Parts: sequence; C-alpha cells; structure tokens
Amino acid sequence: MGTLPWLFLVLLLQEAKGYSGDGVEPEEVVAALQESVSLPLEIPPGEEVKSIVWFSQKRLATVMPGKEGQPVSVVVDDPHYEGRVSFLGPSYSLHIRNVSWQDSGPYQAQVNLQTSQLSTMQHYNLRVYRRLSQPQIAVNFEIPGEGACNISLVCSVDRAGMNVTYSWLTLGDSAEAAQEGSGLSTSWRPGDKVLSYTCRASNPVGSINSLPIAAGLFCADPGYRETPSMPSCLLAKGLLLLLLLIILAVGLCEVPRTRKLKRNRIKLRKKEK
Ligand SMILES: *[C@@H]1O[C@H](CO)[C@@H](O)[C@H](O)[C@H]1NC(C)=O
Ligand SMILES: *[C@@H]1O[C@H](CO)[C@@H](O)[C@H](O)[C@H]1NC(C)=O
Ligand SMILES: *[C@@H]1O[C@H](CO)[C@@H](O)[C@H](O)[C@H]1NC(C)=O
Repeated sequence: MGTLPWLFLVLLLQEAKGYSGDGVEPEEVVAALQESVSLPLEIPPGEEVKSIVWFSQKRLATVMPGKEGQPVSVVVDDPHYEGRVSFLGPSYSLHIRNVSWQDSGPYQAQVNLQTSQLSTMQHYNLRVYRRLSQPQIAVNFEIPGEGACNISLVCSVDRAGMNVTYSWLTLGDSAEAAQEGSGLSTSWRPGDKVLSYTCRASNPVGSINSLPIAAGLFCADPGYRETPSMPSCLLAKGLLLLLLLIILAVGLCEVPRTRKLKRNRIKLRKKEK
C-alpha cells in the first residue's frame, strides 16, 4: 500500500470513531451531594438513535431505544451507579440520584445513529458540592473609654468545602449596603442606630443567610451575647427584639454609662483640687 491509501484509511477510521466533541470544552455541571442531577443530552434532530453509551471513569451504561413502540433497553455496566441512574426521554439524558463525592469528574455520552456509521461524543464535567449549613458569626468588640466601639464580625460555615464566598448585608440604615468577604469591620457609638448585619454564604449549588446580628448591642451591653445556635430561632429573635427595645428606650433617656463616667471625672477633678 502506498502512502495515499494509508492516509485515506486513517481519515476514514477517525471519521468512524466520530469524536466530533474532541477539543471542545466539556459542559460544566454542578450537583449537590446526595441530591439528583441530570446531564442533558442532545440528539441531532431528525436522527434515529441506535444506541447511547455513557462513560464516566469507565463504561457506565448502554441505552438502546426500542424500535416502534418496543421498550427501551438499559444495561448499567458500572455497579457504582446501579439503582441510581435513569435515562429520561426523549433524548435519554443521564439522571443520577443520591449523588456521591465519587460521582464527580468527567463524563461522556457516545450517541450512535441508526442511519450512519457516525457517532457523536458529548463531554461533561460534574462537580459535587455539599449544601451549606447556616453561617455562624463570631463577634469581636472593643469597648473604649470614650468614642466609637470597634466591632469586627467574622462569618464561617461548618465543613464549608471549596468555592465558598461570603457577603454581608446591612439592614437598618436607609440604604441597604452589601459587602463582599467573610470579615466585616464596623463601629458603634452611643446614640447610633443599632444596625443589623446578615452574612450570606454561597457556593455553586446555593446560598444561605445567617441569622441577623445587631452588632451594636455588644457595645451597648457588654454582657449581651448572641446565641445563634439556640434551638428555637423564634425565642432568639424575641430576645433580640426585647433587647433592642430596651437599648432604644435607654438611648432615648441618654446612655447612663456616659453620664456616670462624666460624674466620676468631675469627682476626680474635685479631688485634684
Ligand atoms: C445515599 O447514598 C449514601 C451513601 O453514599 C447512603 O448512605 C444513603 O443511604 C443513600 N440515600 C438514599 C436515599 O438512597
Ligand atoms: C477603632 O478603629 C479606628 C480605625 O478604624 C482606630 O483609629 C481606633 O483606634 C480603633 N479604636 C479602638 C479602641 O481600637
Ligand atoms: C471554583 O470555581 C472556579 C470557577 O468559578 C473553578 O474554576 C474551580 O475549579 C472551582 N474549584 C473547585 C475546587 O471546584
């Protein structure tokens, strides 16, 4: 055989393999751990499908659509997926239930057509994330003798995993302000409005808010402690509201601590004299 027929054969073989998806970016799909996910399959319109072979690390399943009203035949080749996969018509997209960490990674669907020797390949990349639990807020505050009380808030999520982002929402001001990042610094001085801060944690499968925290209350009453892990959220909210009302009431009649400080200072001055 000369060079040319060889070349022809190679081209023919490549075409028969039909890796039309070669070189294309895989479709990114995200799934929540222990939930369900679908890898959507597209069939060329007007084509009759002979078979679809799904692959993950190895051959996953073979789907043979039934001809003229006959039932579809499905063979799950990889025991790891046994009982957890179904193939939803009309395009036989792969549906996985109770997704596990091991399910993450590349997937391919090879679609073999009835009418031609050609097959098409579709590529996917599945990423699995845990659904985030409610964020917790750690509060640090300094109560200075005078001036603004500095407050730093740090937001965190238990077993957060990869690709978690945090943002803060400030309520109580006329304008609702949002800020990125897990930490937030603010200050509060007697007479200031008590603003409420909410942290939002997000990852590719969703986002969840913390309970709101009225950071100024920590400065106003050093004995005050937020208890976000309280079993009854309603009770915590009630207490928060009650404290807020007390602080507001106290604020209206001027903050007594400042007055006491002033009085002490006056006494000191008198002593000095
Ligand atoms: C989901 O899979 C886990 C193991 O990965 C298993 O422990 C759990 O029982 C399964 N849940 C359901 C609803 O099948
Ligand atoms: C509070 O923060 C400001 C700057 O943000 C700083 O100048 C000041 O010293 C801080 N006060 C205390 C008591 O840490
Ligand atoms: C995090 O997200 C970026 C895209 O936003 C992605 O490129 C990266 O692979 C992700 N990391 C993990 C560990 O999933």
